[in-house]
Amino acid sequence: MVRKDFFMHDFSYVGKSFYCENVNLEKIAKRFGTPTYVYSYKTLTEHYLKLDSAFNYINHTICYSIKSNSNIAICKLLAGQGCGADVVSGGELYRAIKAGIKPDKIVYAGVGKTEDEIKFALLSNILLFNSESQAELELINKVAGELNKRAKIGLRINPDVDAKTHAYITTGKKENKFGIPLGEAFEIYKKADRYKNLEFRGIHIHIGSQITSVQPYVEAVKKAVDFINKLKSNEIKIDYINIGGGLGIIYDKESPAKADEFADSLKPFLKGLNCSLILEPGRFITGNAGVLLTKVLLVKKSIEKKFIIVDAAMNDLARPSLYDAYHNILPLVKSDEDKSSEIVDIVGPVCESGDFFAKNRRFPFVESNNILAILSAGAYGFSMSSNYNSRPRAAEVLAKNGRCYLIRKRETYRDLIRNEKIPAILAKLGRKNGKK
Ligand code: LLP
Repeated sequence: MVRKDFFMHDFSYVGKSFYCENVNLEKIAKRFGTPTYVYSYKTLTEHYLKLDSAFNYINHTICYSIKSNSNIAICKLLAGQGCGADVVSGGELYRAIKAGIKPDKIVYAGVGKTEDEIKFALLSNILLFNSESQAELELINKVAGELNKRAKIGLRINPDVDAKTHAYITTGKKENKFGIPLGEAFEIYKKADRYKNLEFRGIHIHIGSQITSVQPYVEAVKKAVDFINKLKSNEIKIDYINIGGGLGIIYDKESPAKADEFADSLKPFLKGLNCSLILEPGRFITGNAGVLLTKVLLVKKSIEKKFIIVDAAMNDLARPSLYDAYHNILPLVKSDEDKSSEIVDIVGPVCESGDFFAKNRRFPFVESNNILAILSAGAYGFSMSSNYNSRPRAAEVLAKNGRCYLIRKRETYRDLIRNEKIPAILAKLGRKNGKK
């Protein structure tokens, strides 16, 4: 069942049972129920440290991309390692600060920030606003003026590079909504004095996500470095080069660049540039640090197919439905061998045909109440989950060296309607109906 090049090192079978950091995952499923996300403390830490040490050759800050997994305990764990944050909303900024991430290590991206969000970030004294339009620069300039503050800007440029990943997560091509074309960016820098309350300090790129080769990075970083050098020769000094996130991981048969290879390939461009480096990894840190545990509800056979229906669904993990993404799936109790394996679809209970985790996949024999682990679910799993079909969102658990800690309670039915209100006019209507 488990491949030789298994990539989730802190998740493995011991005998017939599947463990995370010496915690039997069946026990977690029994104790906390399913569906439940389980994360490895050790993997999270090691992935962060791997990237951190790979870039030892340059002054750098790793700003963890909170959107990949925004649980406050995970943010806190990374903050404890010295990590900064890449945030994309006021909510993420709030989380980052609550988790103890230092504001001077927080960068704030996104194509549209509200006035309130800009105010919040200015009052929090964040490191940089990654901004990507003249309209937004005007707005940040105005809000900063009102607060009597100066906003530090990292201008996001669009290097027009194909990251060779899924179209929905490609962000650095000229037809994408992200970044400012180089020509326009240069004009902004030349006229930077117009913005009295802005300090233009950095250049930002982020070309996409789940990028497995270093080549698009090299191409994009080279363009960013050439741009910085052009600014320099026009007496414009840049302090930060932010190369975004996007480092790919193994879900199936990918062989993504390792942290060292990635860092080494960029060294010739970054060394000697005289800029601090910012990185914004999300998936690289969290992706293979988490699994989603789900219980088999029943097995349904039709003439064409065999469906394994589980209690997790697209509202818990949207990646297969949204991107046709592959996630390896394993039963928590290893079956005797693949003899009894069959071709199945593994699907959730949501009323959509797009609600699947695996299609036409060879899978060992399982039956009702068996627990499965959907692997590589640490990034863009819980953080993209919803209450669709009025399903309470899953619990989250952190495993560390033989112990486990609940880091998010499972939602209840009461949570589902907590913020909803029935206006008086409808309450009256209800009584009328009741009388009939
Ligand atoms: N920085 C910026 C500006 C970003 O937009 C993103 C991700 C990151 C950093 C982190 O990228 P990472 O290192 O995690 O690849 N939901 C999709 C991924 C969307 C990525 C959005 N931006 C998925 O499940 O594949």
